[in-house]
Amino acid sequence: MSNPSLLILPGDGIGPEVMAEVVKVIDWFGDKRDLKIDVSHGLVGGCSYDAHGTPLTDETMARAQEVDAVLLGAVGGPKYDDLDFSVKPERGLLRLRKEMDLYSNLRPAQCFDALAEFSSLKPEIVSGLDIVIVRELTSGIYFGEPRGIIKEGNERVGINTQRYTESEIARVARSAFELARRRSNKVCSMEKANVMESGILWRDVVQEIHDAEYPDVELTHMYADAGAMQLCRYPKQFDVIVTDNLFGDMLSDMAAMLTGSLGMLPSASLGSPMENGRPKAMYEPVHGSAPDIAGQAKANPSACILSFAMALRYSYDQGDEATRLEKAVEKVLADGVRTADLMQADGGTPATTSEMGDAVIAALEASL
Ligand code: IPM
Ligand code: MG
Repeated sequence: MSNPSLLILPGDGIGPEVMAEVVKVIDWFGDKRDLKIDVSHGLVGGCSYDAHGTPLTDETMARAQEVDAVLLGAVGGPKYDDLDFSVKPERGLLRLRKEMDLYSNLRPAQCFDALAEFSSLKPEIVSGLDIVIVRELTSGIYFGEPRGIIKEGNERVGINTQRYTESEIARVARSAFELARRRSNKVCSMEKANVMESGILWRDVVQEIHDAEYPDVELTHMYADAGAMQLCRYPKQFDVIVTDNLFGDMLSDMAAMLTGSLGMLPSASLGSPMENGRPKAMYEPVHGSAPDIAGQAKANPSACILSFAMALRYSYDQGDEATRLEKAVEKVLADGVRTADLMQADGGTPATTSEMGDAVIAALEASL
């Protein structure tokens, strides 16, 4: 049997720096755990625009469709702010999501004990927090038609359309219920059924799928604005939250900040099963390209390393090795190794990006 495959797309800003640390981790698993992965590399985002005039070439898109998993760093930066909308770095990312049909975006927000003090909330509210936001990723207002900026009389009108079909809602609901069964068996669905028809349909379909297929899972519904408030007030009431593309974008940034640092959070975007039974998949850190610190060895590679752990679990059937890697990151934090994002201003000299990566490798060694 051939080795499993991975396409690495480091992207822009701190993407290449954090990805270099993940490559060390991948090599370690190859050498020490005999887990050989065929790795190929490509461009996405601004760097692809610089090289090819497009944020994602057809060749790279085709390669992404072939591999077992894609690992993406981050895209975008101020250098590309004035580009035409159609070739902005983010369009490359959105094209990958849409054409691979990665409808279920898992965004865990987990608070590491060692970092509870960094949260903007009181430690007792966030310590032990472990929730997952399941964000619908291929539809809704991000992709709905009509869209655009048109002229009406003598003024311009900006238009985007929130649109969800029953089947789009049903499939992401199933993925949330399946995940909940492997966790605490609790799902909270969030929409704005009080003001949006698409929200009414969302609530109905989630409830129907629940009643017909997952009656054992505890299901609640919340308006998304109230959900944001509850996430701040008492986040540990949640286990799995399922929501649409735009609400999921905002709620996941908020949930991420509860944990103390965006630099720690991974994500998985999953689609339908391929011929080998595994889902189409792309993994990426929740943080962005952080142009303000790019090239300064300040970035925290943990989120990208933990994204690879999710790939081990969901794409390569290596749950035990995924846990080994997650525990290694946790140990590094518990030992007090800190990149700049995890330190107070007067906290001493922070670890560099590669020192953090090396510490993870050392913790992996110690796990053998
Ligand atoms: C995210 C990001 C993206 C989104 C951007 C970069 C297009 O904010 O993954 O959350 O809005 O989905
Ligand atoms: Mg976002």
